[in-house]
Amino acid sequence: MAQIVVEDLRKRFVVAERRAGMLGALAGVVRRRHRVVEALAGVGFRVDEGELVGYIGPNGAGKSTTVKVLAGILVPDGGRCEVQGRVPWLERVEHVARIGVVFGQRTQLWWDLPVVESFELLREIYRVDRQQYRVRLDALVNALDVGAVLDVPVRQLSLGQRMRCDVVAALLHAPQLLFLDEPTIGLDAPAKLAVREFVRRLNRERGTTVILTTHDMDDIEALCSRVVVIDHGRISCDGSLDHLRERAGVGRRIIVDLERDEPLAPTDARVVSREGTRVVLAFDPVRTPAAALVARITREHAVRDLFVENPPIEEIVARLYGEADARGEAEPRPEPREDPS
Ligand SMILES: Nc1ncnc2c1ncn2[C@@H]1O[C@H](COP(=O)(O)OP(=O)(O)OP(=O)(O)O)[C@@H](O)[C@H]1O
Ligand SMILES: [Mg+2]
Repeated sequence: MAQIVVEDLRKRFVVAERRAGMLGALAGVVRRRHRVVEALAGVGFRVDEGELVGYIGPNGAGKSTTVKVLAGILVPDGGRCEVQGRVPWLERVEHVARIGVVFGQRTQLWWDLPVVESFELLREIYRVDRQQYRVRLDALVNALDVGAVLDVPVRQLSLGQRMRCDVVAALLHAPQLLFLDEPTIGLDAPAKLAVREFVRRLNRERGTTVILTTHDMDDIEALCSRVVVIDHGRISCDGSLDHLRERAGVGRRIIVDLERDEPLAPTDARVVSREGTRVVLAFDPVRTPAAALVARITREHAVRDLFVENPPIEEIVARLYGEADARGEAEPRPEPREDPS
C-alpha cells in the first residue's frame, strides 16, 4: 500500500536581496530585488509501506524542502501530496502523531533541558500512555546507547549523542513512517554505524517505512534498495542502485592480475586502466554476464587473480549530477524583479 503519494509538487521561495546603489543610498532609497528560487519544480514519487528509500541530490536540490512538505511543516504552492492518506498541512495534528522526523542539522529537543525531560514533554504532546512510554523508552535508550546522557542538558551533548537522542525522540510515539534528513551528518565512523544499524533493524524488524536523505553514499549503499535522485527541484532518477549504475553508464568492473605482461582487451569490455600486469575492465552486466566474461578471460590468459566489483556509488552520483549540470540546470533560474520600497 502506498504510504506516500507525491505528484507534480511545487514550491518556490522568494528571497529578498537588499541593494542600495550609490544614488539610491544618497536619496535614502533602497531598491529591493527579489529572486525566485524554484526549490521544487514538479516532484513526483510514491513510497510503499515498508520501503527504505534513499533520497539524494546535490546541495540545494530540494531534499529538505520535500521532507518539510511531507512532514507538514511547509505548504507547497502546487501539486498533490498525501501521506498515509492525509494531506500533511491540512490534517497536521493527526499527521504528526503518525510520523517521526529527524533533521540532522537541527535538533528537535529543548536545548536547555536534560534529555529525559524533552522525552517527557514529547510523551505528553503525543499523548503516549505512561506504561507504553516506559517500555519504548527503555528499548530505544538501549538500542541507541544513550542511557548515560539522559540527565545531561541537550546543549552539552556531543553531536553523536545529540543525534541519537533525536532519533529516540522521533520514535517515542512509535510512528510507522520515519523521515531522516541527514541523520549521520558530522558523526564519526562508530556513531554512523550505530545509527545505520539501528535504522536497518527498525525497517527490517518493525517494518517502519523510512525516507533517508544523506550525502553519505556508504549510508545509501548499506541501507537502500531504492534511490530517488532529485536535482534542481526535479526527480532525475528513481530506481534500484543497479538501475542507477546503468543510468550513469559506469557499468561493473573486472580487475585482472595477469601472470605476465600481455595485451588484454576483450571485445565486450572497455579497458579503464592498465598498470603493469593489472588491468581494470568495465562492462555492461546486462549485455555481458560477468560469469561469461570471466570464463573467457581465464581461458585465453594466464590469470593470477581476478575480482568483479561494482563501481563506487560516489562515481555514479558524480556522473548523474554532472549530467544535469551539462544540461544547463546548474543554477536555479533567478527571475529578478525590482520594486523600490
Ligand atoms: N526558507 C527558505 N527561504 C528561501 N529559500 C529557501 C528556503 N528553504 C530552502 N530554500 C532554497 O530552496 C532550495 C532547496 O533547498 P533545500 O534545503 O531543500 O536543499 P537540500 O537538497 O536539502 O540541500 P542540502 O543538501 O544542502 O541540505 C535552495 O536553493 C535553498 O536555498
Ligand atoms: Mg537539506
